[in-house]
Amino acid sequence: MPRVFRVLRVLVAVAVALDTTPRRLLSQTAVTSPDGRNRVTVQLTEGRLQYSLARDGRVLILPSLLGFEFRGTAPLRDGLRITDTTRQSHDQWWTQPWGEVARVRDHYNELAVSVEEAAAPARRFVLRVRAFDDGVGFRYELPEQAGLGAFELTGELTEFALADNARAWWIPSNRPRMDRSEMLYASSPMSLLDSVQTPLTMETRDGRTFMVIHEANLADYARMNLAGQRGESRTLRADLAPMADGIKVRGRTPFMTPWRTIQLADSLTRLVPSLLGLKLNPPNVLPSTDWIRPMKYVGIWWGMHINTMTWSSGPQHGATTANARRYIDFAAANGFGGVLVEGWNLGWDGDWIANRDAFSFTRAYPDYDLAEVARYARQKGVRLIVHNETSGGILNYERQMDSAFALYRSLGVNAIKTGYVTDLVGEGHSHYSQYMVQHYRRVIEAAARHGIMVDAHEPMHDTGERRTFPNMMTREGARGQEYNAWSGDGGNPPEHESILFFTRLLAGPMDFTPGIFDLLIERGTGRPRRPDEARVRTTLAKQLALYVTIYSPMQMAADLPENYERQPAFQFIRDVAVDWDTTRVLEGRIGDYVAVARRERNGQTWFLGAITDESARTLDIPLSFLTPGRRYVAEVYADGPGAHWLTNPLPVSITRRPVTSLTRLRMLLAPGGGQAIRIRPAR
Ligand code: NOJ
Ligand code: CA
Repeated sequence: MPRVFRVLRVLVAVAVALDTTPRRLLSQTAVTSPDGRNRVTVQLTEGRLQYSLARDGRVLILPSLLGFEFRGTAPLRDGLRITDTTRQSHDQWWTQPWGEVARVRDHYNELAVSVEEAAAPARRFVLRVRAFDDGVGFRYELPEQAGLGAFELTGELTEFALADNARAWWIPSNRPRMDRSEMLYASSPMSLLDSVQTPLTMETRDGRTFMVIHEANLADYARMNLAGQRGESRTLRADLAPMADGIKVRGRTPFMTPWRTIQLADSLTRLVPSLLGLKLNPPNVLPSTDWIRPMKYVGIWWGMHINTMTWSSGPQHGATTANARRYIDFAAANGFGGVLVEGWNLGWDGDWIANRDAFSFTRAYPDYDLAEVARYARQKGVRLIVHNETSGGILNYERQMDSAFALYRSLGVNAIKTGYVTDLVGEGHSHYSQYMVQHYRRVIEAAARHGIMVDAHEPMHDTGERRTFPNMMTREGARGQEYNAWSGDGGNPPEHESILFFTRLLAGPMDFTPGIFDLLIERGTGRPRRPDEARVRTTLAKQLALYVTIYSPMQMAADLPENYERQPAFQFIRDVAVDWDTTRVLEGRIGDYVAVARRERNGQTWFLGAITDESARTLDIPLSFLTPGRRYVAEVYADGPGAHWLTNPLPVSITRRPVTSLTRLRMLLAPGGGQAIRIRPAR
């Protein structure tokens, strides 16, 4: 404990000892997780409220400030006293309608600390803390009160004063494209951080503890980024995204903030499945979830990114009725549930980012017959996924949303993919402002009313909405496969997905769009690519493994259908599940490699995916997760002889072997490679 806190403690103790009036006011209280390991202490220090966090008695977060700053009135921070504390415990399981695991246990001890300013206007708030075995969460609740009605927050004062200069894996929140989270990750000691996004994954220097700071149930507030002090201290501060006028949050009491969450684990393999955020969201509010189905899909999409098709009208227009039929036929023949069609609607001609208000969400280009395509899809047992790119034209979208969704629904469409390609949205608001938090919620709710599932690109970061609205399926919110299609900026390096697994994916599912087979992107140009041109920086086997490592209930087979022709490895994409009963991380190191096993929902088949960075790796994996005594067949899709992401990415060797729970698998991963395995019970 720093000296200043020790001194303060002594002073408080002396003050308490000298005080002769009857003392009912508390200055410190704590709550411990059910397993007794995680402990949050809430204390008053010179009239300021602080919390701290320890695991197994070891302090991870030092006393850290809590409170708010307002426009036009004093901060809610000073001269506080604790007026009440209440406690409760909770232990309940629920079944997810779909997910990375079927069953979730919501088990915590809760402490609610009521505080009040000692002086007028005597504003009050409650700090509600929940201690779970896998981490802790806390939120502020501002009850209705005379001294605080309508308010404008200029800042939230929450701090995370780390005890250790832990290593952090991060993306910035204050650079160009900040609003899309589409940057490559960096890693550094947390004391050097400037301004970063969450989830922020950190490892203590002794390797004993992994900590992930994030938020849950972001419903009507600004998104939280974290501001560090670039070498000055180990304290991170909540940094709320502003609206156009600089205000962070407008609200009126009674009011609740999102939960601030700190996920904790002793090892990386225990960070996933990451369910803390789900536990801090309200349960499902939809009357029925029967219509919500995880699925694999194909789409008129990659062609636009590799320049063989266009979103706009013209000879290369991708979204034609004929093309859509071809994709639908392909989806139906291969058991896929959906077909995404981008560039179908009016508004793509010219600069579609600048002309964002020109997008129509109901009117199609003349060469695309929406009703006919939807009918053809239904007849083939496939559903259309309708694309809604807004370019950040929020008012334009909201004006059309209800009628558009009603139209889609009338055509039997039950899924949309949204998009928000731009830096500042609407009237100059940050993508991550309260304005946009409200917008993204409105889309989810409107979609739910019309029976529509949502896949959001350039989304708000995932804070567990899918628990409350299980039609909120998946989202982008990181650098996806598309970056590999664009020349110039280098695409995604081989380590990228093994960082995503332990960072972005801790927030929730990602529509990464795996499955590119034409890794050198030769088909579009008809000649091999030059080294400085765009290409995918993985082996083909790794593209398969991504279906298991990257969790998404909507999983795309992203390549052109023709690139799957005569490709035996395509069988894995046809077979792989998208809804899981169980998820187990077997091994991994952030930015190096990861191996994960998942068992399909309502079935006994397991899928195993392993990916590596630019280094070759041999993994020795015991299959002890299989049911003992049962015989299985493993269908192994491994990097073939001489495979290498840079020089020879295509060879895949497909083999079969009998396995049991006693088998140890030796998995050879090529540089930039991977391995995908289907393990099904032997007949
Ligand atoms: C960016 C999205 O990530 C991508 O999937 C989409 O094709 C384009 N925007 C156009 O909307
Ligand atoms: Ca994107």
